[in-house]
Amino acid sequence: MSAKFPPQLIEVVRAAAQIAVLTGAGISAESGVPTFRQAQSGLWAQYDPQELATPQAFQRNPPLVWEWYAWRRTLVEQVQPNPGHFALAEMARRGPGLTLITQNIDGLHQKAGSPNVIELHGSIRRVKCFSEDQPVEQWAETGEIPPRCPRCGGLLRPDVVWFNENLPPQALQAAITAAKTCDLFFSIGTSGLVNPAASLPYYALERDKPVVEINPEPTPLTEYVSYSIQGPSGIVLPALVESAWPQVKAPG
Ligand code: OAD
Repeated sequence: MSAKFPPQLIEVVRAAAQIAVLTGAGISAESGVPTFRQAQSGLWAQYDPQELATPQAFQRNPPLVWEWYAWRRTLVEQVQPNPGHFALAEMARRGPGLTLITQNIDGLHQKAGSPNVIELHGSIRRVKCFSEDQPVEQWAETGEIPPRCPRCGGLLRPDVVWFNENLPPQALQAAITAAKTCDLFFSIGTSGLVNPAASLPYYALERDKPVVEINPEPTPLTEYVSYSIQGPSGIVLPALVESAWPQVKAPG
């Protein structure tokens, strides 16, 4: 696969001292996690995710939204990171400074061994109180759905960012800082339709820093990037890491 990369791209990757990487649902597609905009299957096919993933939907029908996330949590628990996730963890080991920013809530980057992942949209593995907006680690299972906050009795909800909600301010600030200070930016497996995450590559472009997109399909970002690699991240990323930082074989 290395022959397919332009030599300048490999040079740019090798020369970078600080790399920022933004990932979206596409990087988990090869693990079997449906992307956000793919049709839901089975029981949930009749619902539009954009209508379930809002605070208003939760207020209208808390059990429905809780159960939808419970189903998605079960799906995510059954899948494993794919070669794309592992390649990014390897990039952090072999390469220079790397900040990994994800819009995914599936925890697969951490499972693959990536350190210090910035989760812009929260995590499906965590729960918080809808009223207090504070994380909750343990609660009594009374059979009530959703369960209640042990502190205030409010309803529990997944600790993810819904439409019409703000991103966690610290995570967003760290992501913006990374995008404003990197000398190479990767946008991987994201449709680039949802702000503020979608705006991150533009901080690098404004400073004339190279931006590399990895996605089998074109996106609104494609026409602006320095390198567009049209392919699945599970194939492209391992080949790119191997081309940029070939593993030195031990003698003998
Ligand atoms: P989308 O589902 O919008 O886009 C997934 C992208 O991955 C598409 O551009 C696909 O072409 C691409 N893709 C598919 N398979 C791929 C593969 N094997 N390798 C690389 N790319 C592949 O997902 P996101 O861009 O992550 O937010 O969506 C952004 C946000 O929209 C989500 O985090 C979610 C949603 O609203 C919230 O829930 C707040």
